[in-house]
Amino acid sequence: MNLQIIEHPVVRHHLTQLRDHTTSPEQFRSIVGRLTNLLVFRATECLELRPRQVQTPLTDFLGNELSQSIGLVPILRAGLGMIDPVLSLLPTAEVWHLGLYRDETTSRPVEYYSKLPPGRPVDVAMVLDPMLATGGSAVLAYHTLKRWGVPQVKLLSIISAPEGIDRLQHECPDLDVYVCAVDKGLNERNFIVPGLGDAGDRIFNTAGNE
Ligand code: PRP
Repeated sequence: MNLQIIEHPVVRHHLTQLRDHTTSPEQFRSIVGRLTNLLVFRATECLELRPRQVQTPLTDFLGNELSQSIGLVPILRAGLGMIDPVLSLLPTAEVWHLGLYRDETTSRPVEYYSKLPPGRPVDVAMVLDPMLATGGSAVLAYHTLKRWGVPQVKLLSIISAPEGIDRLQHECPDLDVYVCAVDKGLNERNFIVPGLGDAGDRIFNTAGNE
């Protein structure tokens, strides 16, 4: 597993605002978008190119175009908050949703939606989920995508816990992971501390309704 932590003053600034419990759902959504822009910039650095010849208004130019098929895999629900910024950078990407929720008693992920088309995997899959806690959801997503036949899987998460990182290190050998922060750890309910609460609830304004 290859881990990249996006150390950047702008990331720290926005992440602090995201952690603040007084940040409204509207502000939370836009900050998730800003941080996702920074994550995806780093996560796309190694994408492959092929030559592309174009005519500028003045002359011929031999440039490039992206050569790999790219699939964005938002983990429902919270990953939906990261889709738009990635799609604006990669407008031809395919989007394949995976529905996973974490069982409150066991903290294990439960799959409730997956419609990957058999036999037509993308070259690169980018899993989008703002939180990596125990790592259960990320491991399940990784294995689902590997079973589909995806050669290269990347995970983009805003915050993470060392427990989840350790688990990915052991169970997902060739996964590339991009995070804005690795927090102190998990509490007794497997919530990331200091964290930012439940990203899905804060994005969709459903905190306290369950
Ligand atoms: C959260 C989060 C991840 C998962 C992380 O989702 O968005 O998908 O938990 O935890 P893990 O690393 O321990 O698996 P949640 O289950 O709260 O669902 P939601 O997005 O629908 O709120």
